[in-house]
Amino acid sequence: MKIEIFENYEQMSRAAAETIARTVQAAPFPVLGLATGSTPLGAYRNLIEMCGAGVLSFKNVRTVNLDEYVGLGEESAQSYAAFMEKNLFSHIDIDRENTNLPDGKAEDPQAECERYSQLLKGMPRDLQLLGLGSDGHIGFNEPYTPFGSRTHIAELAESTIRDNSRLFGDISEVPRRAITMGIADITEAKKILLLACGANKARAVYDMVKGGIDEKCPASILQKHPDAVIMIDREAAQLL
Ligand code: F6R
Repeated sequence: MKIEIFENYEQMSRAAAETIARTVQAAPFPVLGLATGSTPLGAYRNLIEMCGAGVLSFKNVRTVNLDEYVGLGEESAQSYAAFMEKNLFSHIDIDRENTNLPDGKAEDPQAECERYSQLLKGMPRDLQLLGLGSDGHIGFNEPYTPFGSRTHIAELAESTIRDNSRLFGDISEVPRRAITMGIADITEAKKILLLACGANKARAVYDMVKGGIDEKCPASILQKHPDAVIMIDREAAQLL
């Protein structure tokens, strides 16, 4: 695990975008695992700028997202499909056919998990981008999710529902379930890039880096990954 501490969010975001850009430029048909949430927004803005300046192209890039809320589709502003469209896909030269998210509106969510697992098998990721939950989750793999888990329906922890309620009108509107890549799916990526910023992530960062490898902190599994890069700002690093 390589830890990189930055003065602020902007510097972290710039470095993250440069790492993603290098991955895109290094492979003829790169596969990126992508994340939603507040943390990667700065990195996405930098990638959009690079694409606009003509120094980076997503023409040959395929993407696969970590997760989606059960019950939400692209027409809902809070869905992760809408998030990706608004914050990245609509601003870059990617072919929408090459972008993938779990279908939150699938009639049979369990069958959707199986479809997504199959899809992941055929899309080995060159890089998986991750945020970090304040409870140590990655994707929606909450504490005590088995490290060997594959794509599944996750019950959101109360703390995650609270954290994510800022993006909904009312906490009662936050879906209680999500389809998420499992921890084994995530760690199969060749390279992992995890971003965390702000004091509310400091405890989870400490557990991920200094705690033992333990299912009570899902992100701690990254200690075993051969190429995991952790980029954090000073506030998230304050307990290290
Ligand atoms: C998002 C995801 C989540 C977030 C995490 C941090 O696709 O899978 O694990 O990365 O909840 O969210 P933010 O960045 O909003 O603090």
